[in-house]
Amino acid sequence: MKSCRICDSPLTIFLDLGMMPRGNGFLTPDEFAHEFKFPLAAAFCASCTAVQLIEQPPAESIFHETYPFFTGSSVRMKTHFKELAGEIKVRSLADKNNPLVIEIGSNDGTLLKNFAEAGYRHLGLEPAAGAAVQARAAGVTTEIAFFNEEIASEILRTHGPADALIGANVFCHIDSIRSAAQGVKRLLNSSGAATFEDPYFIDMLEKTAYDQIYDEHVFIFSVTVLDNLFKSCGLELKDVKRIPTHGGSIRYWVGHAGSAPLRSQSVDAILREEEGQGVGQLETYQKFQEKVKTASRDLKALLEKLKNEGARLAGYAATSKSTTLLNFAGIGPELIAFISDTTDFKQGKFSPGMHIPVVSPEKFRPPYPDYVLLLAWNHVEEIMEKEKDFVKKGGRWILPVPRLEIKP
Ligand code: TMP
Ligand code: ZN
Repeated sequence: MKSCRICDSPLTIFLDLGMMPRGNGFLTPDEFAHEFKFPLAAAFCASCTAVQLIEQPPAESIFHETYPFFTGSSVRMKTHFKELAGEIKVRSLADKNNPLVIEIGSNDGTLLKNFAEAGYRHLGLEPAAGAAVQARAAGVTTEIAFFNEEIASEILRTHGPADALIGANVFCHIDSIRSAAQGVKRLLNSSGAATFEDPYFIDMLEKTAYDQIYDEHVFIFSVTVLDNLFKSCGLELKDVKRIPTHGGSIRYWVGHAGSAPLRSQSVDAILREEEGQGVGQLETYQKFQEKVKTASRDLKALLEKLKNEGARLAGYAATSKSTTLLNFAGIGPELIAFISDTTDFKQGKFSPGMHIPVVSPEKFRPPYPDYVLLLAWNHVEEIMEKEKDFVKKGGRWILPVPRLEIKP
């Protein structure tokens, strides 16, 4: 068994999800026979409490040329990153002369564009070449690279220190997390601030959102873990707040230990809260496991019941997290006829593992299915607003998370 990626202590598995394909492993029928699978299991470290995967497929096999995730495809995320850029400009860059902004995992440049267009010196690092090419076309300076201590040293030599270092939904993907944290320490200017966002462990617990666990999310962070990780390399968590993106995330600010600004009281408040929620106790993880098993069984039973009553069922949004949900419950095309999704790359392909056809939203038209499983439950408001016609014509949504629910 692997040891903790942060502190090398032994890990305890608390949720074994079985053999799983990649979250974004959409495929064609000729690929079914040799589909890649790996053992997906979430573990926790009794020593530093870090929640992490036992095994992650090599990062190069995930964030490759045709990695199908493009931030700019969601209007909500564009607005979200515009707001984040605004906050960084005010908090970290207002008093700086010709500052440098570096983003780790900059994808198609959606966030950095807000700096590029305002004339800031900037650099994006993105391993997925397809997304990097799109970013360059949008005027965002981008290098195709993974982030670690070595690349941080190289950038420091070629560009100088970063006044703002950003990573949105990136840090939780990094297997060699100590090297990444050391890279932040190296590259960040003495008065600079790093800002990160990642799915939040407490949201996963509260919502039984086990679909956050898939190949790309090697960690699901709590503030307790982040605090220890950064402390161990001479950095300091300065501030943290909960945000609603990706079904519940945290935005956190990191600087050099002892540098201005002082650590906000919000960090200690959230650390106390997490202690109360049992982040360090095995029992918390055992309870979570029970809830996940019940949620998964209940979802499949509901779909089977509706199907037996003659209802037509489909899925909405072939999210990467739905790969865990559908495979763990064993929900395939015999229950869900198709999944409608806006991403070109996924359309005409089949969902990882369960092989449900993915179709374009043009096919999500009357006569509608009777029930639609909302796999992008984190975008529930946006989607219900956009698809009002579906409900008007008698359609009903099935929400799998935070609790199984039929709407209306
Ligand atoms: P995620 O950001 O939760 O991972 O979801 C991304 C997937 O969901 C992506 O393939 C696009 C799809 N999607 C839709 O098909 N329709 C929608 O309205 C939304 C918000 C997402
Ligand atoms: Zn540990």
